[in-house]
Amino acid sequence: MRKARASQHRANGPKELVPFHRPWLGAAEQREILATLKSGWLTTGARTRALEQAVAEYVGSKHAVAVSSGTAALHVALAALEVGPGDEVITTPITFASTANVIVLQGAKPVFVDVEPDTLNVDAEQIESRISRRTKVILPVHLYGQPCDMETVLRVAQRHRLLVAEDAAHALGTEYHGRRVGNFGDLTCFSLYATKNITTGEGGMVTTDHEELAAKVRLLSIHGITADSWQRHGDGGFVHWDVVRPGYKYNLSDIHAALGIHQLKKIEAFWRRRKRCVEMYNAAFQEVPEIRLIPAKGDVKHAHHLYPILLKTEDLTSSRDAVLQALKEAGIGAGVHFRALHLTSFYSKTFGFKPGDFPHAEYASERLLSLPLYPKMTGREVRRVITQLKDILRRVKKKKTF
Ligand SMILES: Cc1ncc(COP(=O)(O)O)c(C=O)c1O
Repeated sequence: MRKARASQHRANGPKELVPFHRPWLGAAEQREILATLKSGWLTTGARTRALEQAVAEYVGSKHAVAVSSGTAALHVALAALEVGPGDEVITTPITFASTANVIVLQGAKPVFVDVEPDTLNVDAEQIESRISRRTKVILPVHLYGQPCDMETVLRVAQRHRLLVAEDAAHALGTEYHGRRVGNFGDLTCFSLYATKNITTGEGGMVTTDHEELAAKVRLLSIHGITADSWQRHGDGGFVHWDVVRPGYKYNLSDIHAALGIHQLKKIEAFWRRRKRCVEMYNAAFQEVPEIRLIPAKGDVKHAHHLYPILLKTEDLTSSRDAVLQALKEAGIGAGVHFRALHLTSFYSKTFGFKPGDFPHAEYASERLLSLPLYPKMTGREVRRVITQLKDILRRVKKKKTF
């Protein structure tokens, strides 16, 4: 009886919630966490090293350094590339705040390049025109899990002797021309945040093929001291530490790494489930005139970290934010990834950016809407999101006048 009522309630459904994200952590993760607690070693140690090795192997890079977040990965990467006052770093305005924040935190200046109107990745063809004597690094972001046009990025970088740090926060598992993202640039920065394709709760990883850079990232991620606590108190006997140069406290703990070790084993299974949801969304939305899809382009494997769409608000009587609110009221979690960074208070005031500077980014900024996408999502939940969004759009669509 109770079951019947519950399913009736579900069928009537406006209050059946579909959250924006739900993590998928299993018994293996629970056992590993417990084993970590029982081991007595909580900070960076054997489990962190095991995760580093597994990620390096997975992405096909020689080195991996685990850090406490994707932001920490980006920050320490720029520090390791010696980005400092007077330097410029080229990046995209459609990204999370931390991509540009770390440039500013290093005392350098972010130079934005507009995005491609279809993929919303940085328009690599425009990068060269923004290079100056001060440019040091190109920082492309593989947005939503789709790789940037790395052929062009690397060609331009090589021609102008620039360094490349990739923001691959969304891109663990992404492939470009048949090769996993992980060492196209000098340093590649992943996020292992709670909602990412695999998670350690909070965490990040820097991968590279360059031994010296890897050593520098490691040094700077743990105070700039030569022997971390793992080495100092491990089996090899006591080692005194020395400060080589002041660094950050960005190491990942074994408690976090315990999750990642098992999450990584499931990454392909997670991806297949994400892809199935994406295919359902794409099939349902491609005929909806008020929605523009963001296509995967070229020889790529899209990691499907997020499922963003563009709402053609010019055809609607409501703004994107009003649609987002209506979805929320219908019990559907949604988000915006991202609003154009150059128009946020700090960046516009500090660097003088203004509306009109990056038209494609600004167009997307007002129209982007991310729908729930995670491996635990059921077909029923995807269908519910589709129905609710279509209903809302039907209500707010502009009447055609002839
Ligand atoms: C594009 C991008 N870069 C960097 C980050 C920072 O990652 P974290 O949250 O792990 O610091 C994020 C976070 O969501 C992101 O979306």
